[in-house]
Amino acid sequence: MSAPTLKIGLAGFGNVGAGVYRNLEKNRKLLCERTGYHLEISRIAVRNREKARLAEAPTELFTENLSDLLDDPEISIIVELIGGTDQAFDLIKGALERGKSVVTGNKALLAERGRELFAIAEACDRPIHYEAAVAGGIPIIKAMQESLIANHIQSVTGIINGTCNYILTRMFEAGLSYETALAEAQELGYAEADPALDISGWDAAHKAIILASLSYGRWVPCDQIHVEGIENIRSEDVNFATTLGYVIKLLGVIRLHSETRSIELRVQPSLLPVRHILASVKGVFNAVAVQGDLVGETIFYGSGAGADPTSSSVIADIADAAMWTRPNPGSGLVTHSLYGDTLPIGDSISKYYLRVDAEDRPGVLARIAAVLGENEIGILSVIQPEEHEADTAPIVLMLHYAPYRRILTALDQIALLDCVRGRPILMRVEDVG
Ligand SMILES: NC(=O)c1ccc[n+]([C@@H]2O[C@H](COP(=O)([O-])OP(=O)(O)OC[C@H]3O[C@@H](n4cnc5c(N)ncnc54)[C@H](OP(=O)(O)O)[C@@H]3O)[C@@H](O)[C@H]2O)c1
Repeated sequence: MSAPTLKIGLAGFGNVGAGVYRNLEKNRKLLCERTGYHLEISRIAVRNREKARLAEAPTELFTENLSDLLDDPEISIIVELIGGTDQAFDLIKGALERGKSVVTGNKALLAERGRELFAIAEACDRPIHYEAAVAGGIPIIKAMQESLIANHIQSVTGIINGTCNYILTRMFEAGLSYETALAEAQELGYAEADPALDISGWDAAHKAIILASLSYGRWVPCDQIHVEGIENIRSEDVNFATTLGYVIKLLGVIRLHSETRSIELRVQPSLLPVRHILASVKGVFNAVAVQGDLVGETIFYGSGAGADPTSSSVIADIADAAMWTRPNPGSGLVTHSLYGDTLPIGDSISKYYLRVDAEDRPGVLARIAAVLGENEIGILSVIQPEEHEADTAPIVLMLHYAPYRRILTALDQIALLDCVRGRPILMRVEDVG
């Protein structure tokens, strides 16, 4: 039986909206296998239909009228990616009241009017999905809603504004002044022409409010968060912090005071010990550390913005909204045959570390190198410590990319050389990131 089609109304075709359209098309088959639906964007609302677009979509899908999405009875999911707080609010309210599910990435709207919106959603018995509203592509919302549900959340500490993190990283690593780092961020498209929302700390504050509300089960009003931006940080602060063993990060901090049950909520530039894992979050990347009473510390890291990472979250929410309509939610694992079989281990390729304990005499290295050469394995570097025990010397070779099968053959041959003592030690040099 072919999969049923679920029609989606997409409001906004800017950075994120166009990314969602493009990536829904790109991974259409996979999403159909995983959700059991053809997810089809059947209408797209924009401000100006004539504008050049970041993705190609049939012109007949476009409208300048948001109500065309609301009034289409075939559309069951509305995706709000227009930003702002007034028309977006009306759109979401209208969708919920018409029995449609909602997906949004609008942190400003949720922070400012989440209380009202979720009350409407409750009354209409329809969900609002908002994974993209905090930390772009990082699945922090669902982690907190589902995977960490068993925990009292003790604290959430986040680097949740990529623009500020980029500026601070460049001030630390390249010694740039605040002004130069900001100009560079704007040039690279990491900061808006008007960067006020980011550098004032308010974009991070909107996200912190959502995380606090999610952690503690009530919407925190915007006037109850303390917010400071990074505008006053100067190169000398960066230098002093470095001397003292710290880095400066704009942190969103949400902390439960268990004695009083009160919630500390703030966004401030803060000093972090250089060895702390959040100190290594650089450039436009985001990370959120969540401390739960059962799980301890967990850390979520990834891209906090950008069309592809953010559309990953939006599409996940669309899939969730689709699954929500299904009578049978499934067993927890969807099987399909879009991918191939398990790769034989001998075909896997990497670089390697090889330590050979061998007799300390001339010509040994050449014999080992000859075996590697016969097996078409390149040597990247060789280390042999001058000081070693008696007549046996360790030789460490860093080897170039090669199939594991070839390396094992070479290893067997090296182990048989009469100048080699014991079985050589082999480890992969893993390609990560
Ligand atoms: N950019 C990111 O990396 C990112 C990450 C996470 C969350 N978000 C959130 O996602 C949302 C969208 O961000 P974006 O970067 O994609 O914004 P954007 O590039 O400015 O795009 C906004 C889109 O909405 C349309 N639009 C605005 N007002 C409208 C109206 N009244 N009726 C119909 N269409 C309207 C615009 O139409 P025109 O094109 O015709 O002007 C445009 O296509 C925002 O809430 C943002 O906070 C963004």
